[in-house]
Amino acid sequence: MPLNTNLETPKFYGRRQGRRIRKAKSTLLEAFLPKLSISNDQKLSKDSLFSYPVKQICLEIGFGNGEHLAGQALRNPENGYIGAEVFKNGVANLLSIITGIKEGDNLPEKIELLPEYKDNIRIFSDDIRLLFKQIPDNFLDKIFVLFPDPWPKKRHADRRFINQENLKEISRILKKGGILRVATDHKIYKGWTLRQLHENPNFRWTARCGNDWKHEPRDWVQTKYQRKAIREGRRAVFLDFERL
Ligand SMILES: C[S@@+](CC[C@H](N)C(=O)[O-])C[C@H]1O[C@@H](n2cnc3c(N)ncnc32)[C@H](O)[C@@H]1O
Repeated sequence: MPLNTNLETPKFYGRRQGRRIRKAKSTLLEAFLPKLSISNDQKLSKDSLFSYPVKQICLEIGFGNGEHLAGQALRNPENGYIGAEVFKNGVANLLSIITGIKEGDNLPEKIELLPEYKDNIRIFSDDIRLLFKQIPDNFLDKIFVLFPDPWPKKRHADRRFINQENLKEISRILKKGGILRVATDHKIYKGWTLRQLHENPNFRWTARCGNDWKHEPRDWVQTKYQRKAIREGRRAVFLDFERL
C-alpha cells in the first residue's frame, strides 16, 4: 500500500525521505505499515480505531524516529496512540522499534509486534493537517508536538507548526482539560509558542514555576532531536497547555 497521498496536500517544507530505505525497513513499510495505517478517508472513532477499548487517545505530531511514541505506547497499554509523520525513514524506524526488526535481520514469514507491545499504535504517514478533518471534536486527551522544526528566520515564521490556524484545529480535537505538550530547544520557538498560546483563549499554560517547564516531565521519553540538542549543549523546555 502506498503512503498516504492526497491531491489537496498543503505545502510541506520539510523532508519526506532521507537516505535510501533498505530491505528490512522497506518490507516493514510495505507489509506491516498497512496494518497500523490510518487512511485519508477514514473517519476516526474511539470504538473502532484500536482492536480493544482504550481509556485515552493521544496524538503525536511529527514523531520523527518514533522513540517517544513507542515508549508512551509501551508504558501505557490502556491508552491508544496516533502518530503522524511525513518523513518516511522515521515511519520505518518506528516500525522497526515496535517489531524489533532491524536492517540486516532475516525477515520472519509473518511480521508482528514485539510481545511487549499491545495493539495501541496507529500511524498516519503524511501531513497531520490532512488528517485533522477526519478527527471528531473533543476526541483526544493529549497532543504532543516535540521539537518541531523551528524555522528560525523571520521570513519563514509562517512555516512554524504552532500557529493560530493549527491551534484552531488542535483546540477542536482536544478534550476540555486535555493537554497540548510542546517541547523545544530553540529560544525563538519557545517565545513564539508562548505568544501563540497566550493569544489563544482556548489554552492555559499550566506551569507554576521553572521546575514545571525546565525539566523533563515525569512521563517523558527522550527523542532523537532532544539527544542532539543535549550533545550540542542546548537545553530543552517542556511546555504543557491545558485546553480550557
Ligand atoms: C525536528 S523533527 C523532530 C522529530 C521528533 N519529534 C524528535 O523530537 O526527534 C520534526 C518532525 O516533524 C515532522 N513534521 C513536520 N511537520 C509535520 C506535519 N505537518 N505533519 C506530520 N509531521 C510533520 C517532520 O517530518 C520531522 O520529522
